Amino acid sequence: MLFIGREKVREKLEDDQYIDASKSHAIFICGKRGSGKSYTMGVLVEELQEKHPDFLKIIIDPMGIFWTMAELNIEQEEELWDWNLYAREYPVKLIVPGEVEKRFDSEVVKELENKGIEFKQLLLNPSDISPEGWCDLFNININEMMGIALYRAVDSISKKFFTIDDIIYEIERDTKSKETTKEALINRLNMAKKWGIFADEEIQIESVFSTNAVNVVDLSTIESGRHGLRDLVVSIVSKYLFNQRLKSRKREMLNLESKMSKVWMFIDEAHNFIPSGKSTLSKEILIRWAKEGRQPGLNLIATQQPSAVDNEVLSQCDIILHIRLPIGKM
Ligand SMILES: Nc1ncnc2c1ncn2[C@@H]1O[C@H](COP(=O)(O)OP(=O)(O)OP(=O)(O)O)[C@@H](O)[C@H]1O
Ligand SMILES: [Mg+2]
Repeated sequence: MLFIGREKVREKLEDDQYIDASKSHAIFICGKRGSGKSYTMGVLVEELQEKHPDFLKIIIDPMGIFWTMAELNIEQEEELWDWNLYAREYPVKLIVPGEVEKRFDSEVVKELENKGIEFKQLLLNPSDISPEGWCDLFNININEMMGIALYRAVDSISKKFFTIDDIIYEIERDTKSKETTKEALINRLNMAKKWGIFADEEIQIESVFSTNAVNVVDLSTIESGRHGLRDLVVSIVSKYLFNQRLKSRKREMLNLESKMSKVWMFIDEAHNFIPSGKSTLSKEILIRWAKEGRQPGLNLIATQQPSAVDNEVLSQCDIILHIRLPIGKM
């Protein structure tokens, strides 16, 4: 049972409130700016780490704030005592898309490592992106010349691992497309190489995440508008976890050793990934996760103002935490 606070009845705080973590949930935390959405999400992560260290906890962190879980909350120590709680620090693994040295200043890395934070680089396999996904990534219409050529190139090599250079090679030897189309595509692919998040050799994503720490995927170092890169990271990670958990669930039902424990994925500022009225690379898999995740033990916890998140996900949430009052007035 995860302790989330106390019910307030007529200005008095009364019964303790809990969420049963033995069941799967889709939880939506909403409220005004600065009302405590991210903080509440942090509380859930900490409770899980204490009570279910065996579950895999992954935070999608667009603001780059959750590494602070590795520090003691000294500022609020007295308030914590009032609640029979105490300041605690948690093991944090900071997962950085791309090369850590390029995304963070070396002094910052050193300082964070001194706080016990472990850095882990996350590279993406170009072959984990479907032919349609590559077109979406470059915002190219699949029915136009460039889209047709790119789809064809990726599709022809999609049976096994491939690199961006392999796609370029396929485009170069394409005899059906015009030279200008090929050139425009190759320019885009060369640009994607410079983003620094694609692997040249096949990466096993499972080596990135572990249950002995809170896994914080720090997306703050990727500019949010940049070609849907944040979306791409979220979509690949979510698809991987979803598929692995489906396989593990099958094994568990047959009393075989499970390869991956239950997953709790926390998405702060979820409107970035599941906006209403707009498609993104990660939206489809997140909607599927919310709809089909209960059985395989896939939990989703999202924060955002209610109006900004897609209704399809909202309607799947079994718990909605609506934070109404700014802190200080509670
Ligand atoms: N339950 C709580 N107990 C004590 N302090 C809290 C609590 N919730 C939030 N706070 C404090 O309130 C401040 C704002 O919280 P937080 O950043 O979580 O808000 P938010 O709703 O995520 O804001 P934003 O919309 O800007 O993302 C933080 O400094 C945090 O320390
Ligand atoms: Mg927040």
